[in-house]
Amino acid sequence: MLTAKELRQKYLDFFKSKEHAIIPSAPLVPENDPTTLFTGSGMQPMITYLMGESHPLGKRIADSQKSFRSGDIEDVGDNRHTTFFEMLGNWSLGDYFKKDQITWMFEFLTKEIGLDQKNLYVTVFRGDESLNIPRDDESVGIWKELFKGVGIEAQDVNFAERDGMQDGRIFYYPVEKNWWSRAGVPANMPIGEPGGPDSEMFWDFGVERGIHEESAWKDEPCHVNCDCGRFMEIGNNVFMEYLKTEKGFEFLKQKNVDFGGGLERILAALNNDPDIFLTDIFEKAKAEIEKLSGKKYADNKEAYRVILDHLRAATFLIGDGVLPSNKDQGYFVRRLIRRAVRFAHKLGIENNFCGDVAKIFIEDYKSEYANLETDQEMIVAELGKEENKFRETLEKGLKEFEKYIQIDGKVIFNLYTTYGFPKELIAEEAKERGVEVTTENWQEFEELFKKHQDLSRTAAEGKFKGGLADYSEKTTQFHTIAHLMLAGLRKVLGENVHQKGSNINGERIRFDFSHPDKMTDEQKKAVEEFVNEAIESKTEVAMEEMTPEEAKNAGAEGEFGHKYGDRVKVYSVGEYSREICGGPHIKNTAEIQGKFRIQKEESSSAGVRRIKAVVE
Ligand code: ALA
Repeated sequence: MLTAKELRQKYLDFFKSKEHAIIPSAPLVPENDPTTLFTGSGMQPMITYLMGESHPLGKRIADSQKSFRSGDIEDVGDNRHTTFFEMLGNWSLGDYFKKDQITWMFEFLTKEIGLDQKNLYVTVFRGDESLNIPRDDESVGIWKELFKGVGIEAQDVNFAERDGMQDGRIFYYPVEKNWWSRAGVPANMPIGEPGGPDSEMFWDFGVERGIHEESAWKDEPCHVNCDCGRFMEIGNNVFMEYLKTEKGFEFLKQKNVDFGGGLERILAALNNDPDIFLTDIFEKAKAEIEKLSGKKYADNKEAYRVILDHLRAATFLIGDGVLPSNKDQGYFVRRLIRRAVRFAHKLGIENNFCGDVAKIFIEDYKSEYANLETDQEMIVAELGKEENKFRETLEKGLKEFEKYIQIDGKVIFNLYTTYGFPKELIAEEAKERGVEVTTENWQEFEELFKKHQDLSRTAAEGKFKGGLADYSEKTTQFHTIAHLMLAGLRKVLGENVHQKGSNINGERIRFDFSHPDKMTDEQKKAVEEFVNEAIESKTEVAMEEMTPEEAKNAGAEGEFGHKYGDRVKVYSVGEYSREICGGPHIKNTAEIQGKFRIQKEESSSAGVRRIKAVVE
């Protein structure tokens, strides 16, 4: 059996042998991407290159990308969902396409790591008349050839979701299943967003692993995309060649491949057990929890899974600079830690333990993610602080139950939101204490919760739309201005100033940087003058590719450390600014219409200041 470490290495080595450049994982918090709070797939950091920007390392790239999907928090507890996972990825940026991708994937899965082709099933895009995008017959032909080569006559079957599998091997599905973009199905994609049909690979764990017969949908046939547990998706080949425009879908400048495969899921397939918490990744942490609680994984799977997933995710997120808080990314870290502690409390773990579990994960992952080791002390301390805080709240929340003989929807809502109690815990605690909760009480809670969710969903969608639609000229201009502003800040405030984050939309630039003190009006004015001079000078913006070492010697600003690949792009605005960056940027500062102004300068967190700036 391969370990996670071995599988990751084999994947990267395999694509290296196919002339791919291997890049390090980008952080879990996207840089210069206001569209989303977290990096949730390998393609997110690659988006500008898929759109046509040239990558300094060439047209073939592969990596293992840390990913976090906040939407999956409530799903954790079954055998396959995690919030954090590693996505093995490879990209063709206008280079190879379907034939090579599918052939290499088949070779990797069946030969390189030895998965039995008999248990491998695939899906392809059914085609969609309303979008004027045809069925993906090309991929079907390629898959058939490959299966034939190993003695399998692969039949293609349409409408398996309606008529069953019919001994098929290749299945057509509509946009809901076989189309990929960051925003999901074509209808949800904003104008300017890339996407395309995909071909997914599934592992068959055997009909006995499914719960189809006992499920609510037992009268419908079981098929690869059914949720009964028999099949698991292990990889997705996206043929990213379309751009959504005002007039419908058009071809992108180039045909791209975006492959993503869950490291944990491929391991589960190798293990021939769908429970990803039985892979070596969780072994040591699980043993620690067994030691602390005296309870077995086999008898307490849900609690274990929540604790294992959430603490691994929190460790990585804090390692990428997200501290528990009440807003944005920090809120998710807080929820992860609180849920983990609540479930640990249930297992009888009464003392702080999060830091110890984090240390176990750090030990295992540090060879791949060096920052975890560098920041171990900080990570452990932050987990400890949040755990302390919540253990106090937890007791108070539990005391709430003692005030009532019956709890209504409002009390449930309060326990759910203020104390962070999950529904099942509320139900169980209530039962244990003889507190009555009626169906009406739950309904009242659901209504309150729905209202609350709608509010947050509207906010989240606003955020998503606001940015995604915006591959506009304005965003590119602001991006170049952000470089000029950083250069100005370093000139006025000193070389200790470095960028700590940025968030750009079509209206303003939000920019975080390291600096201990509030800026004076004179300092702000000096930075504004610096940027405006650069704008008025109509200076050309030049890009050069070089090694990180060369970039450093050339005086380029950047975060020197483990973060960069072998070659980087350096953008220079004359003598005004020189910075490592993926782009895109404007060609000349003359493109900027208007005057740069700092609207606001305030504290962001300890030692970090935040500027909001506009061009008017
Ligand atoms: N970007 C594709 C996915 O996340 C590969 O499934």
